[in-house]
Amino acid sequence: MKAFKSTPTVLSRGMFIGIALLVSAWQGPPAVAQDNVDKAIDAKFSKYDGKLPLWAIQPGTAPRMIDMTIYFNNMWFGAQAGNWDLARFEVYRTEEAIKGIYVVRPKRIDTVKPWAESALPALIKAIEAKDKKGFEKAYDNAIAGCNGCHAGSGGGPLKSMASFKIIRPTTPLFSNIDFKKR
Ligand code: HEC
Repeated sequence: MKAFKSTPTVLSRGMFIGIALLVSAWQGPPAVAQDNVDKAIDAKFSKYDGKLPLWAIQPGTAPRMIDMTIYFNNMWFGAQAGNWDLARFEVYRTEEAIKGIYVVRPKRIDTVKPWAESALPALIKAIEAKDKKGFEKAYDNAIAGCNGCHAGSGGGPLKSMASFKIIRPTTPLFSNIDFKKR
């Protein structure tokens, strides 16, 4: 058997590239490397990226709009029955739905935020004052804002969402909610 001939001072080209790659991939001590991994994961989870399935399956604007339609229905019948707690909760739910839009559809922030920051505080103010007339005014203003935005915004295959005209509801969506004040 041939004896292994060592050449300690000469690195083969392959070994040199291998070492160079290892050095460039080395991110410092393990704690630093872990920190970098955490940062990279945080960045991926913090910024919408539709190419990634986990982001792509998140509800966009339209499903949250349907939720808002439900909240605005409940809110109306709560307020009509003097059930101000119920009405207050529905404004809170609307705010939560909207926060989701800011995350998954940041391009909508410029149009949705001005509406949310004027329409919703006005509703809260009237609800907390248990002011039915004030509520109706704030409600009508809020839905005028829904419609104003729809007229000026496209969605999916549509250039304008004007076909979705929001009105005061005439029927509660849920027959299994008793709207009477408790
Ligand atoms: C600042 C803009 C804006 C405001 C305010 C707004 N919408 Fe929308 N709405 C949109 C856009 C944009 C779409 C289409 C979204 C999409 O394509 O994903 C939409 C879609 C909808 C839809 C159709 C959803 C579906 O899946 O069929 C309904 C219903 C709706 N909105 C209700 C409301 C209600 C109720 C309000 C007010 C309480 C409101 N919207 C306020 C922009 C707005």
